[in-house]
Amino acid sequence: MVAVKRVAVIGAGPAGAITIDALAKEKSFDLIRVFERREAPGGCWLADKQPPPLLSDLAALASRSADAPIPLPDRLPAQRPKIANPRYAESSIYPYLETNIDSIPMEFTQEPIPAERSQRSIALHGHDTPFRHWSVMQRYIQGLVDRNGYQDLVSYNTTVERAEKVGHEWKVTLRKDGAEKDYWWVEWFDAVVVASGHYSVPYVPAIEGLEQFEKLRPGSVMHSKQFRGKEYFQGKRVVIVGASVSGADVAVDLVNTAVSPVYAVVSGHRANAYFGDEAFNHSQISKQPSISRIEARNVHFVDGNSVRDVDNIIFGTGYSWTLPFLPQVEVRNNRVPNLYQHVVYQKDPTLLFVGAVAAGLTFKIFEYQAVLAARILAGRAILPPLAEQEKWEQDRIAARGDGPKFTLVFPDFEDYFEDVRALAGPGEHGLGRQLPPFKREWFKAFLDGHELRKKMWRRINAQAWDELDVNLNGLDLGGQKKTRSPPPTYGPDLLNKIPNVTQRGRLDPSIVG
Ligand SMILES: Cc1cc2nc3c(=O)[nH]c(=O)nc-3n(C[C@H](O)[C@H](O)[C@H](O)COP(=O)(O)OP(=O)(O)OC[C@H]3O[C@@H](n4cnc5c(N)ncnc54)[C@H](O)[C@@H]3O)c2cc1C
Ligand SMILES: NC(=O)c1ccc[n+]([C@@H]2O[C@H](COP(=O)([O-])OP(=O)(O)OC[C@H]3O[C@@H](n4cnc5c(N)ncnc54)[C@H](OP(=O)(O)O)[C@@H]3O)[C@@H](O)[C@H]2O)c1
Repeated sequence: MVAVKRVAVIGAGPAGAITIDALAKEKSFDLIRVFERREAPGGCWLADKQPPPLLSDLAALASRSADAPIPLPDRLPAQRPKIANPRYAESSIYPYLETNIDSIPMEFTQEPIPAERSQRSIALHGHDTPFRHWSVMQRYIQGLVDRNGYQDLVSYNTTVERAEKVGHEWKVTLRKDGAEKDYWWVEWFDAVVVASGHYSVPYVPAIEGLEQFEKLRPGSVMHSKQFRGKEYFQGKRVVIVGASVSGADVAVDLVNTAVSPVYAVVSGHRANAYFGDEAFNHSQISKQPSISRIEARNVHFVDGNSVRDVDNIIFGTGYSWTLPFLPQVEVRNNRVPNLYQHVVYQKDPTLLFVGAVAAGLTFKIFEYQAVLAARILAGRAILPPLAEQEKWEQDRIAARGDGPKFTLVFPDFEDYFEDVRALAGPGEHGLGRQLPPFKREWFKAFLDGHELRKKMWRRINAQAWDELDVNLNGLDLGGQKKTRSPPPTYGPDLLNKIPNVTQRGRLDPSIVG
């Protein structure tokens, strides 16, 4: 590898923010430039000032081909009309979003997350709640960027539209948002660190009749990314798709606001590895299998059941990995192949990734990856031979498959942290950000945080089933059992036979169960 003196970092979310520190502390580079397409740091933790745009091009979202590369101006620098394509830079934040991971395993090892607790979180989890409001996280990341003069390294409102290797150099084509027109130009680097995240482009599955449903009432098909709080859904009949974190959070949140029950398409789908499906065991959530088709505003499920007059379908179906600025780098099965230790692009170690892992001890992993990337670029970490790197990937595919599970570090956190730390080495002459050995208490706090959330759902659900009991006692159920049984015997099967029970115990005849 030629000596690396100029490094570009793409993205100023948590991964980019810690990468700046890791690079700067090596004191080996003449130029560190950070390009961030938003107006401030924070990545997923930076809220929008505008309402989110409506979903467009559902077919492209379904085939994971949205966010394609755009044509570059022939000559640069140039001013050009603003681009028309959606780039999905907007946030997934709603006003009361909190972290769902304990702050201790989440924070970087040298920068504690402030112990600011919201009233909402205290009410849900107690006075020592380990979860933090999104705004605490945004300020935390902003603080990491606005220190030691790092803020001067960042160019905001600047999208990397292309990064391509020309000879030994990286040609980076940039587009800065202007009020009327965009400004395009090129900068040259020896290496590129990609910290652009992978929770930006919504995945919305292809379903017969979905486009028509959206056309009938634009905005009725939503992704969890566009969720901005429950108020909008007051009195609306809602189907939520997705059995993981977003699906669970939105479904539980809409109970008592949307028309009851809230329909959750979860059966047969992957519950979140950490949280399971506890959230959906609520008396006012009706669990459903996959949607088979949609006719006008009627949603049909694969078991033959259907719901009439649906106002909104919200997809908590996750996100698609995209790298429109790196057309030469493959995205396969919603992951980026050829990344040794999820960091080093095997075909060219001047291209490195920080953050190319599924959620887990997220920020801490980014920190270890960032230090490894910085040490490699500083020439202070030695990579194993290519054959060994390729074997690492093949062994992992054999163990975890060639899809998103490949990027899930859980439960092998200790092995991964220690492997990356060993590869990064101690640095030279006391230079560089120092990585402490993995601490098992991080993992324990991580698991304990999940248990807290499951406990919260169990409490809410038990209360909801008790309330339903009281309400059912006033109903004529045609001989069905009216007294309380615990949820497993008294679960959604019975509820599905009662077409709709509102919180006040009235039957809603407009629903087909
Ligand atoms: C709703 C939601 C809640 C979450 N909650 C948690 C949680 O509680 N705990 C947890 O650990 N994780 C959580 N996550 C996971 C989240 O991915 C991480 O917390 C973290 O934000 C990822 O950091 P990142 O820097 O890798 O990516 P991001 O945070 O996505 O940051 C990437 C940055 O790169 C910029 N960028 C992208 N492309 C370009 C380009 N071409 N040019 C210039 N800039 C570009 C983006 O604008 C963005 O600022 C959550 C994710 C979501 C979507
Ligand atoms: N801090 C917070 O409170 C918070 C809130 C939201 C999200 N997040 C984070 O954001 C990240 C993304 O989470 P996410 O829940 O949005 O996405 P996700 O974890 O990728 O889950 C997507 C879900 O959609 C399901 N799905 C996909 N296609 C489907 C289809 N055709 N029909 C029905 N279901 C389908 C998946 O199951 P199958 O694959 O089996 O189909 C899975 O259950 C996670 O890291 C999460 O922790 C955090």
